[in-house]
Amino acid sequence: MSPCRIHPSILSADFANLEAELHRIGTADAVHVDVMDNHFVPNLTLGLPVVKRIADVSTLPVDVHLMIEDADRWAPDYADLGVDSVTFHAEASAAPVRLARELRARGSKAAMALRPATAVEPYLDMLEELDMLLLMTVEPGFGGQSFLDLILPKIRRTRAAIEGSGLPLVLQVDGGITRETILRAAEAGADVFVAGSSVYGTEDPAAAVDALRHVVEHTESGL
Ligand code: DX5
Ligand code: ZN
Repeated sequence: MSPCRIHPSILSADFANLEAELHRIGTADAVHVDVMDNHFVPNLTLGLPVVKRIADVSTLPVDVHLMIEDADRWAPDYADLGVDSVTFHAEASAAPVRLARELRARGSKAAMALRPATAVEPYLDMLEELDMLLLMTVEPGFGGQSFLDLILPKIRRTRAAIEGSGLPLVLQVDGGITRETILRAAEAGADVFVAGSSVYGTEDPAAAVDALRHVVEHTESGL
């Protein structure tokens, strides 16, 4: 299994002190930034100017998760900010292959997300266009929700398809990831874990990141 990566979500951080909050997750592999437009999801967070400043000051790679309508129009502008990856939702793109190519052309990794009720099978033939696939393990929109175990079979099927393809893309899960749930997601085949409240909701976010990683790596070594 590939190494376990932890991407804390700043949705659960203090929005008045974002630079300081970034420094509290030095043990993480990247920072996950949730962009919501109050149309694709019933919540509103931040947009291009704030993501630009995060990208400017972050020493960690920036993983942008766009929960916005009309991704074809807006996602390329995020790739232009020099972030590591831009994730758009399949449900919000009219032309996901074209969009993934556009993101890569602008120097970002291309990633696509699926809501819990969206099947992965229609997208398996476009895996080569992607660097990362995100399977949502809650309905997108809010932090602090409970992990949906019903996504585990989809994670398994997706992992099998990735292995069968021989492609290097990684499989991310987002929503309800805690020290209790991360193992189920890892055993099903996820290798990149977004965690908001279980990292920033603690006194020591860097230690919380290490603790999540430890659960996966310790168990894997014991298998
Ligand atoms: C939810 C966001 C998540 C959120 C996860 O729509 O995409 O990234 O921050 O928060 P937790 O880890 O608290 O479920
Ligand atoms: Zn997210």
